[in-house]
Amino acid sequence: MPINNSSKWLSILWILLCLACNDEASPGQDADIIDVADASHEDISEYDLVSSDMSDMDTFLADADVLVDMFPPEDMDMEQDLSEMMLPELTPPGGEATISHDPATPFLQFAPNLPLSELRRASLGRELFVADWTAAPGNRELLDGLGPLFVAQSCLSCHPSSGQAPTLTAGGGVGVGILFRLGVKDSGDTWSTEPTYGAQLQNLSFAGVPSEGVVRWSASEDSDSGLQHIDFKLENVSYGEPLEGTVLGPRRSPSLVGMGLLDAIDEDTIRAWEDPEDLDGDGISGRAHQVWDVESQSMKLGRFGWKAIHTTLKQQTAGALSEDMGLTSPVFPEPNCRASQTACLDAPSGGSPEVSHDSLESMSYFLLALGVPDREVFDEERLNGGRALFHQVGCAGCHRPSVTTGSEHTQAWLNHQTIWPYTDLLLHDMGENLADIQEGDAGPSEWRTPPLWSLRFIASQPDARFLHDGRARTVNEAILWHGGEASEAQQGYRELSEDERAQLIDFLMSI
Ligand code: HEC
Ligand code: HEC
Repeated sequence: MPINNSSKWLSILWILLCLACNDEASPGQDADIIDVADASHEDISEYDLVSSDMSDMDTFLADADVLVDMFPPEDMDMEQDLSEMMLPELTPPGGEATISHDPATPFLQFAPNLPLSELRRASLGRELFVADWTAAPGNRELLDGLGPLFVAQSCLSCHPSSGQAPTLTAGGGVGVGILFRLGVKDSGDTWSTEPTYGAQLQNLSFAGVPSEGVVRWSASEDSDSGLQHIDFKLENVSYGEPLEGTVLGPRRSPSLVGMGLLDAIDEDTIRAWEDPEDLDGDGISGRAHQVWDVESQSMKLGRFGWKAIHTTLKQQTAGALSEDMGLTSPVFPEPNCRASQTACLDAPSGGSPEVSHDSLESMSYFLLALGVPDREVFDEERLNGGRALFHQVGCAGCHRPSVTTGSEHTQAWLNHQTIWPYTDLLLHDMGENLADIQEGDAGPSEWRTPPLWSLRFIASQPDARFLHDGRARTVNEAILWHGGEASEAQQGYRELSEDERAQLIDFLMSI
């Protein structure tokens, strides 16, 4: 759909704003709104590219409810087949929220259709996202209260604008790009929370408060498959040995592409994809994760995190503030200290709560405002071939190519967008090899299908890692680890010729 004028101007404004901003936070001050009068015509024409050739498709796209790629799965009926073939091959992956400029820093960029009126709120949220928080009492009141037990000082350190934070570092250390959940497996196969260390390990702390411990990794190669197994080991624990049966749940920090668009997919649309009993017999079931929504005090659809444990971006943010940074907020007002961690409980507070209602709202709004980098089309014929293979072997059964967002999101600019995230946001049983701990109602081997858009930016980094715990060194390895409901697709991929596998991966590196 054509990008309207105001969003063009907004994009230009955002480029300029970005040139002026740096990662040094200055919250509390108004966002630097920059005069756009000098923006050149070249800047504007860049945005025309996004909307070119799209105008004829408007009516069609508006009527289409759920869209899939040009190459439909085999079981589609003929009528649908024909309409799929008529689709423009590559509509922008994030609809009007697609970013077509500055691929050097693909993540954490505002969507070009973010209304000007919301720029201030989103910019303030950005400042809080990039800021290094400090211990209380600090000289910047808005930003104090970190810890005393924490994993990182800022959201940005785990979700950097360039891609992935350090994960498995040389010498067996683990970087901030992987954090550790904990679960205790009881004799009856039920799971509980570790009483001393809680649901997540905090490996850092301030002086006077012992940190909880550190995790080290070692790898062993499977001689048959060539895949690498990673063993994580908890060491230097400060509060006594964790309960017997404690299992680590490593979680690699995901990129935050198009969070608002994922938030705007109708719950009914996601539920319509569920097939818990596999009634269609394709070997893929998939179910929504029903989780406790703290704010409404009811069970709701979880959609964020590797196991879809958070219902909203606000609760995801509040959870990160609490577990990752030791900051209280209106959603989680209690300090993240266990009863036996007295030094933690006695540490000075940065206010109650430490992150105000307004700060939490603007941080969540910042996430809504994140756009989606455009595709990179380098060889159309080859990519179409790769896409056909992606469907042929059954990847699209979980990594659903496309969907149109609903009409009910409070932020109207996120509604009615046809997007290409390659996920169904459902939980799938991925087999024993990928299993770790239970979180909420998601069993150890159940994982939410991760979106695949923009994966190429992660893959282009020298130390790229994939899957929830970073065990896969390449996209190829990530696919070979697929088991459980994805066994058939994995087998299908394995049976492709070497060039076909490369073609499929080339396709993934274009979306
Ligand atoms: C120590 C590293 C770390 C810090 C700090 C951190 N995150 Fe995360 N973030 C993660 C990890 C790991 C996950 C995946 C968690 C899971 O699977 O449950 C995640 C998940 C998310 C998601 C959901 C992504 C998705 O694909 O569903 C959002 C949104 C998010 N974080 C936002 C934030 C915000 C906002 C902050 C700052 C308040 C923050 N994060 C701080 C590591 C971090
Ligand atoms: C049954 C559902 C299902 C099918 C079928 C499936 N996947 Fe996945 N995929 C997942 C889930 C769930 C994960 C996350 C697993 C984990 O991290 O442990 C995943 C992870 C990935 C990742 C890593 C993403 C990242 O950010 O680390 C890639 C790449 C991927 N899948 C590609 C494919 C391809 C290609 C196919 C077809 C050969 C495929 N998948 C088939 C569900 C599926």
